Amino acid sequence: MILVTGGAGFIGSNFVLDWLGGGLEPVVNLDKLTYAGNLENLQSLAKNKNHIFVRGDIADSELVSSLLNQHKIRAVVNFAAESHVDRSIHGPIDFIQTNVMGTFNLLECCRKYWGALSGLDKERFRFLHVSTDEVFGSLARDEPAFTENHRYEPNSPYSASKAASDHLVRAWLHTYGMPVLTTNCSNNYGPYHFPEKLIPLVIHNALKGKPLPIYGDGQQIRDWLYVSDHCSAIRCVLEKGVLGETYNIGGCNEKANLDVVHTICDLLDAQKPRADGRSYKDQITFVTDRPGHDKRYAMDASKIERELGWRPAQTFESGMAQTVQWYLANEQWTENVTSGAYREWVEKQYVGAA
Ligand code: NAD
Ligand code: TYD
Repeated sequence: MILVTGGAGFIGSNFVLDWLGGGLEPVVNLDKLTYAGNLENLQSLAKNKNHIFVRGDIADSELVSSLLNQHKIRAVVNFAAESHVDRSIHGPIDFIQTNVMGTFNLLECCRKYWGALSGLDKERFRFLHVSTDEVFGSLARDEPAFTENHRYEPNSPYSASKAASDHLVRAWLHTYGMPVLTTNCSNNYGPYHFPEKLIPLVIHNALKGKPLPIYGDGQQIRDWLYVSDHCSAIRCVLEKGVLGETYNIGGCNEKANLDVVHTICDLLDAQKPRADGRSYKDQITFVTDRPGHDKRYAMDASKIERELGWRPAQTFESGMAQTVQWYLANEQWTENVTSGAYREWVEKQYVGAA
């Protein structure tokens, strides 16, 4: 059994679906079901005995310890987090609680559990911590991409809380010898992406005839990776990663935000043209920039490619085409997640923009 935390969120649910789809070990899925967690993502597993869903908090030590012992967990993959930069600007406390205190609690529970194991069980145990490229801060246009050795320079409450969690994981390795692995990945996109993040938000707003909000001049750059490629990289690190190492994961797809939005509009213009025959680009609206907005992220993923043989399967073009198709085929999913709490958020974040 493996324990996946945050497995009802965007990347976690893709990971669990891919993992079980590949016939791998049973999964205990621990998720608090915050606004970002959604059991609908896991509907296809409703009758699957290899998926045990538990609603709960990674900061609950009694619960985490009992799950580890009861299910004889051989690996933990920690996705659970507050993950949205804009929300962290409005209210950082949940980010400190889950990303820092929650990860601390998971580490402590795992340390006790692993400490009591012996023989092969002890040797095989792994704690894989899923992190982000945002811990490295912002790059100038001409700087080389982040390597694993880049200094940590987080700029938002979100990235600072993730950086803190990475440091805890590192310390639990060096101090207690815990068998940990850390992955730092670039921006993901794909199915089940909550429509508060750029790509699903733009698809959703476009189809609803609403403004497509671009922060500042839209020239900020992100390195985009299709979510199933992130999931395959995590499986690869879990299987073959060297204990204590960190691995950067990225798609080598650096795009300015405005170009990403243009790509979405082009795909929608072709697949679901507006009734008036005009382009969705007409809906683009420039809005106030995000405070402390990082200019550019770019990942050097040569270590995982060289040492573990991982490569992304999707290009930006193929991944975006699949993503837009998925959202067109699953408009009900977006309708369901964009209920009351979502509308309150949009009103707070985009005040005066509509
Ligand atoms: P998400 O916000 O979609 O999902 C997070 C999940 O964690 C939700 O299901 C939520 O209910 C759950 N959760 C939150 N607090 C919890 C708690 N205290 N206990 C248990 N469960 C809790 O996030 P995501 O985009 O799927 O990101 C998953 C992980 O990957 C995060 O750690 C994030 O930092 C990291 N990451 C994300 C990206 C990206 O582009 N989305 C890129 C790199 C790394
Ligand atoms: P986002 O998807 O929130 O991911 P992150 O901040 O973790 O990179 O944002 C991606 C980029 O898109 C980021 O530079 C902010 C920008 N952005 C907009 O321009 N408009 C929006 O409405 C949102 C949500 C993001």
